[in-house]
Amino acid sequence: MAPGSPDRRVLLFGGRGMLGREILREWGGLGHEIVAPQPSECDVRIAGDVERVTALVQPGIVVNAAAWTDVDGAESRPDDAFLVNALGAENVAAAAAGVGAVVLHVSTDFVFDGRAGRPYDEFDDPCPLTLYGRSKLAGERLVARVAPRHFVVRTAYLYGRGGRNFGSTLLAGIRGGETIRADATRRVAPTWTRAMARQCLRIVGTERYGVWHAASAGETTWVGFAQAMAGRLGRDARIVAADTRALGLAAPRPDCSLLEGRMARLTRIPPMPAWNLALDEYLESEGSEAG
Ligand SMILES: NC(=O)c1ccc[n+]([C@@H]2O[C@H](COP(=O)([O-])OP(=O)(O)OC[C@H]3O[C@@H](n4cnc5c(N)ncnc54)[C@H](OP(=O)(O)O)[C@@H]3O)[C@@H](O)[C@H]2O)c1
Repeated sequence: MAPGSPDRRVLLFGGRGMLGREILREWGGLGHEIVAPQPSECDVRIAGDVERVTALVQPGIVVNAAAWTDVDGAESRPDDAFLVNALGAENVAAAAAGVGAVVLHVSTDFVFDGRAGRPYDEFDDPCPLTLYGRSKLAGERLVARVAPRHFVVRTAYLYGRGGRNFGSTLLAGIRGGETIRADATRRVAPTWTRAMARQCLRIVGTERYGVWHAASAGETTWVGFAQAMAGRLGRDARIVAADTRALGLAAPRPDCSLLEGRMARLTRIPPMPAWNLALDEYLESEGSEAG
């Protein structure tokens, strides 16, 4: 496939988000021609805008990494979350289908309530705890309804450059000698955005449409992640362990919404790396002080 051919032409929504910027970097580095409109140029909530841009670009692949990601804010502003995560996702998928493109829509482990006490695979029934999770599940269903050639890729616990969440700001916090207050309760598998971007590319290549899981293998807690990062940096960080409920978050968090990548195994694409191996690569890429 030559660069610039329709299959290599990608329209990316959410390109300046934490995951979007790694998709730009990784996919762009492999010869994909990527158009990534800013929200001010194309708001996914406005169907006409999305259709116009999609018709102009004529992509072979449309990636939707745009989302309302304020999990706690969604509890008090559910309509805003549903507008972006449900109707916005539908707008993107409908426009993709309209030009014959496949759509890769990014979703979340928060579609699960975490009560199973084991990792969830792609064939488990969702049951979200939060308004954010409900809005993302609504988006998944709308995407599947309007675009038969869809990949709904659920990921979890993302961290990376430019992110504002716990995992992403940890590096600066440890380097700055801050006291780190971390969740000691939830079972998590911190997932580097770059590893996720690479997995998305493999998934698109399968042409196996439907739901996929893509999160780091293995598990830890956020305390374990903070300790692992501090250890690799050679820092004696002050890490204060807290119970999830003591963190005072507006939205409840699933205790265990680990994602099992059964589809990757069944289709024999490489699994996601273990969280600790991805952490090594992340720190190397960030010019860490380790070693
Ligand atoms: N972060 C996590 O831990 C996590 C975990 C599981 C799943 N996910 C999913 O992964 C995906 C990417 O998340 P992320 O962490 O990269 O999010 P992010 O950093 O918050 O990026 C989201 C992007 O969406 C854009 N956006 C928001 N509303 C928009 C609109 N109406 N029209 C167009 N663009 C809009 C934002 O624009 P601005 O640049 O203007 O803000 C931002 O660039 C999302 O689907 C999220 O649900 C994330």
